Amino acid sequence: MKEQLEQIKCHALAALDAADAPAALEELRVKLLGKKGELTAVLKQMGKLSPEERPVMGQIANAVRAEIEKKLEDRKAAIHAAALEAKLAAEAIDVTIPGDSFPVGHQHPMNQVLQQIKDIFVGLGYQVVDGPEIELASYNFTRLNIEEGHPSRDRSDTFYFNDDDSVLLRTQTSPMQIRVMENAKPPICILAPGRVFRKDEADATHSPMFHQIEGLVVDEHITMGDLKGALITMMQKIYGQDATMRFRPHHFPFTEPSCEMDMQCHKCHGTGEIDGQVCSTCHGEGWIELLGAGMVHPEVLRGCGIDPEKYSGFAFGMGLERTAMGRMRINDLRLIFDNDVRFLNQF
Ligand code: PHE
Repeated sequence: MKEQLEQIKCHALAALDAADAPAALEELRVKLLGKKGELTAVLKQMGKLSPEERPVMGQIANAVRAEIEKKLEDRKAAIHAAALEAKLAAEAIDVTIPGDSFPVGHQHPMNQVLQQIKDIFVGLGYQVVDGPEIELASYNFTRLNIEEGHPSRDRSDTFYFNDDDSVLLRTQTSPMQIRVMENAKPPICILAPGRVFRKDEADATHSPMFHQIEGLVVDEHITMGDLKGALITMMQKIYGQDATMRFRPHHFPFTEPSCEMDMQCHKCHGTGEIDGQVCSTCHGEGWIELLGAGMVHPEVLRGCGIDPEKYSGFAFGMGLERTAMGRMRINDLRLIFDNDVRFLNQF
């Protein structure tokens, strides 16, 4: 009987050592220690032993049982630890591995330039205002001194909404001058960027929709010098201290006197040619026209209830795309509107 117990113990310990899953351990527990298990079967035979042998065998049987139970616990703990270890290894995160990169967008080049121009003028004390793209002809033309029959009012140039030509897509941001002046008393100092529309075929320098930025300053003692100061400050901030500008006399019905401002071509530095070839950026002119400007016409001030004897003002209107093209060295206007990411990613 003692040999039987020894054998059970030997087999049991070996089997437990070999078991590598909780289910296998449980199976062995039932097989070895259960009511119908091997050890119980042996113990049932204890009755056949002599009274002297019985306690000795009982002791041995208990020791075997204790040893098997201990082994069972040890294996259970070991299997659990191994499983945990494997799980941790499988779920391990290496924080030193670089993360997945994903594409991040950025501001459109035209908006980058718009933002820069707004920042410059906000720094000079201007307030940025917004106005309607669908405009009354009276604001877009009449109250800006552009009379009935003026060529810019022609149906071939302007998108009208109705037969009496009273409602249109604004052709310039200048109607914002009227909208601001009829609602505010001087001092007035505003910047009004926005979309404008003209019946132009799209080419390298034209688009039926483009952006302008209108500026308007009205107060006592405002002069052409203030206008030049504001524009030169802006240009030097955008293009650098050595940016060179010129002011040419011009005509606009709503400013008097009027002028246009040109920037010296950044490509050929005003010479009009590069390596003996006509400069493609300024077409040999040496200058690039950037904006129209002037002193607000007394009639326009009066029409908005502002006394031209007391107040004067200047206004300017610049093309945003044109400025962005010069700033970003873009040679075709259509690229700005195509939104091809291969183009946009370059800025
Ligand atoms: N609105 C004019 C244009 O579109 C530009 C301009 C604005 C001229 C303000 C003078 C004053 O050409």
